[in-house]
Amino acid sequence: MRSYCRIRSYWPGAGAVGLCSPAAMGHGWAAPGLPRLLLLLLCCGRPLLVPSEGTTGQGTTSQVTVNQETTSQATTSSETTIRHSTTHPSTTSSPKKTQSPNLVSDEDEARKFVEEYDRRSQVVWNEYAEANWNYSTDISTDNSKLLMEKNLQMANHTVKYGTWARKFDVTNFQNATMKRMIKKIQDLERAALPTKELEEYNQILLDMETVYSVASVCHENGTCLRLEPDLTNLMATSRNYQDLAWAWKSWRDKVGRSILPYFPKYVELTNKAARLNGYQDGGDSWRSMYEMPFLEEELEQLFQELQPLYLNLHAYVRRALHRHYGPDVINLEGPIPAHLLGNMWAQSWSNIYDLVAPFPSAPKMDATEAMIKQGWTPLRMFKEADNFFTSLGLLPMPPEFWNKSMLEKPTDGREVVCHASAWDFFNGKDFRIKQCTSVNMEDLVVAHHEMGHIQYFMQYKDLPVTFREGANPGFHEAIGDVLALSVSTPTHLHKINLLSSGDGGYEEDINFLMKMALEKIAFIPFSFLVDQWRWRVFDGSVTRENYNQEWWSLRLKYQGVCPPLARSQDDFDPGAKFHIPASVPYVRYFVSFVIQFQFHQALCQAAGHQGPLHKCDIYQSKEAGKLLADAMKLGFSQPWPEAMRLITGQSNMSAAAMMTYFKPLLDWLVTENGRHGEKLGWPQYNWTPNSARLEGPFVGSGRVNFLGLNLEEQQARVGQWVLLFLGVALLVATLGLTQRLFSIRHHSLRRPHRGPQFGSEVELRHS
Ligand SMILES: *[C@@H]1O[C@H](CO)[C@@H](O)[C@H](O)[C@H]1NC(C)=O
Ligand SMILES: *[C@@H]1O[C@H](CO)[C@@H](O)[C@H](O)[C@H]1NC(C)=O
Ligand SMILES: *[C@@H]1O[C@H](CO)[C@@H](O)[C@H](O)[C@H]1NC(C)=O
Ligand SMILES: *[C@@H]1O[C@H](CO)[C@@H](O)[C@H](O)[C@H]1NC(C)=O
Ligand SMILES: *[C@@H]1O[C@H](CO)[C@@H](O)[C@H](O)[C@H]1NC(C)=O
Ligand SMILES: *[C@@H]1O[C@H](CO)[C@@H](O)[C@H](O)[C@H]1NC(C)=O
Ligand SMILES: [Zn+2]
Repeated sequence: MRSYCRIRSYWPGAGAVGLCSPAAMGHGWAAPGLPRLLLLLLCCGRPLLVPSEGTTGQGTTSQVTVNQETTSQATTSSETTIRHSTTHPSTTSSPKKTQSPNLVSDEDEARKFVEEYDRRSQVVWNEYAEANWNYSTDISTDNSKLLMEKNLQMANHTVKYGTWARKFDVTNFQNATMKRMIKKIQDLERAALPTKELEEYNQILLDMETVYSVASVCHENGTCLRLEPDLTNLMATSRNYQDLAWAWKSWRDKVGRSILPYFPKYVELTNKAARLNGYQDGGDSWRSMYEMPFLEEELEQLFQELQPLYLNLHAYVRRALHRHYGPDVINLEGPIPAHLLGNMWAQSWSNIYDLVAPFPSAPKMDATEAMIKQGWTPLRMFKEADNFFTSLGLLPMPPEFWNKSMLEKPTDGREVVCHASAWDFFNGKDFRIKQCTSVNMEDLVVAHHEMGHIQYFMQYKDLPVTFREGANPGFHEAIGDVLALSVSTPTHLHKINLLSSGDGGYEEDINFLMKMALEKIAFIPFSFLVDQWRWRVFDGSVTRENYNQEWWSLRLKYQGVCPPLARSQDDFDPGAKFHIPASVPYVRYFVSFVIQFQFHQALCQAAGHQGPLHKCDIYQSKEAGKLLADAMKLGFSQPWPEAMRLITGQSNMSAAAMMTYFKPLLDWLVTENGRHGEKLGWPQYNWTPNSARLEGPFVGSGRVNFLGLNLEEQQARVGQWVLLFLGVALLVATLGLTQRLFSIRHHSLRRPHRGPQFGSEVELRHS
């Protein structure tokens, strides 16, 4: 739902995947607590899955090896010295910053280069976007072939100009803008890898995403569920402890465990590409987008400032779950079992609003009913969003937008990628949204969110393509959400005739803030920890043996959640979250959630809002609109603190606005928690429902622990047979998986498929 098309990222992989029978995946092969021994078998299967081994170690790391034969102006790889450096202090000691005498320091030549690059990129990126759009809105063999061609063209383009850019020594350039542009073009991202390894890397990424996307889990009677919409709905609506645990575990058994074999090689190649671009490791490369030497420290600081809100929400929600599920499975001084929060990853808790409503008898603030009653259509929803933007004096959607966007799921039999996204076609006039819109409140907010991306595209459309990006990755996501903050207020919904009364009393206020907190506050620790984990994986301090353990350490430390069932190192629970197999950085969502409240506060002040922040609606404020527009116009042309300064008058990220917004709720929570004598946090951090259950009614005394498997004594005695059996089952399953991936890869170009599309777009959704 929350994504936009980042055109420069290309994955020259297959364009589509097929749906296979879940049975072919060897349903049930991944038993819980699978002994490590068996991993050997899994590893044995890997060379079958991953082609082109043994390409490492060619050349020294200080060389840039170009992955394609490029045209004559490309330097030979041995002359090309990497000049890219990050703002990370430790990078300054990088051995790759050696000076080469062959570098060009003539600024006029550089100017000609960037002009050509800009001209050429607009053409190449536009063609790529068109092909990508055609494919995404009509999944067919022909369209996927066209997309594959454009993928290759993009790769050639990046290597050609990136290599060329590396011929310049920008150290003494007078023009800072040009310096910034060239440094950016010098980063080849994954295209820096040698051909064989690039192919292997792309294949791994494709396979990981394929495994994630085709996965479904099955009941014993053969009924199978996919993540979307089946498991997602189940996690959102079921209030049955065991059903939820089944869905939670099955998804991880199926997906997490299948992702694990790919992951170490993925980490290795991500690091190698990063190092070839002058970074320390993959995490260093990801962090460099923020241009902050102390990014990690500053984010930690923000996180700490928000702790009081999170801890109070956590304790309050834990009490409500205790009320519903009982003391056997909820410990009032322990972490919360991760499957009870209405979401597969416990990242957003808004689906359990019914269990935690502060004032159940006060009205809920949902406009869906009114929208349906008034006969709203998807088009009407986008017109309403457009109206919001223009009311702020921002740009209206261009004719192309209305002509070419896909705002509803087609009914003519076309297969499409429904996942909502906003698209920049890099020609300054063509911008589109693709969304299978339903008429409800949630999608109305998403419509505003996606249109926020389009507005950003339009505001920076006259910049060189290099700068047509958000000030940092968090900014692009935040802009849309800022508008959504106003749209969601009862005041605004009342203004557009979707709520009968806009200004309820105290109880409605607290209900509204609770709803927002379940979305915004609950997400803070999760969005923080995902990349904490990955950064440590990339820098080597978390190794394969510790992947899952460290994941749960962070989940416990930051979120205060625990697994509902025993986990082992053969599980790979991070792999069951989309962004891990899809290799999409995550901390941008943390940044976005913090800064969107700063923006909201600043815009409300500009709009002359009086009263509490959560009641502010910036609708029709030209002053507020101008603040946003001026910041968006900068694109990526300057470090983000300048954009921050334009909006908020100061240049730091700060958690203060978010604290202010939720202050009334925090006060209410503190009182409520005090009334119950809640202990904030999870002092009994060791507790899990699993450990409780060993003493509880669920498990008879005849069960023992065998290699992490909870088994009957009888089973444990024949443990070796279990091992052997599982080993054979696993081998069969691995072969099945190999066969399946193979057939997916090879069939995807021959026949049309439904399902997500790979190889073109970095998905930025956080749901
Ligand atoms: C995309 O589809 C349109 C309309 O069918 C067509 O005119 C255009 O050439 C296609 N573009 C690409 C790059 O395939
Ligand atoms: C990419 O470059 C290679 C090698 O120069 C060339 O064979 C291929 O045709 C190019 N592909 C595209 C789509 O331009
Ligand atoms: C710097 O270079 C850019 C791109 O060529 C140009 O638009 C800009 O005017 C230059 N700035 C100065 C101060 O010369
Ligand atoms: C299969 O079992 C599940 C869970 O027990 C149940 O919800 C579903 O309705 C069953 N499906 C059929 C076709 O019996
Ligand atoms: C939009 O589509 C209509 C009909 O298909 C066409 O007549 C019109 O020229 C298009 N407008 C633009 C701006 O493309
Ligand atoms: C902004 O951050 C800098 C560096 O962390 C700090 O020195 C400064 O005091 C901060 N300014 C404000 C207004 O908080
Ligand atoms: Zn988005």
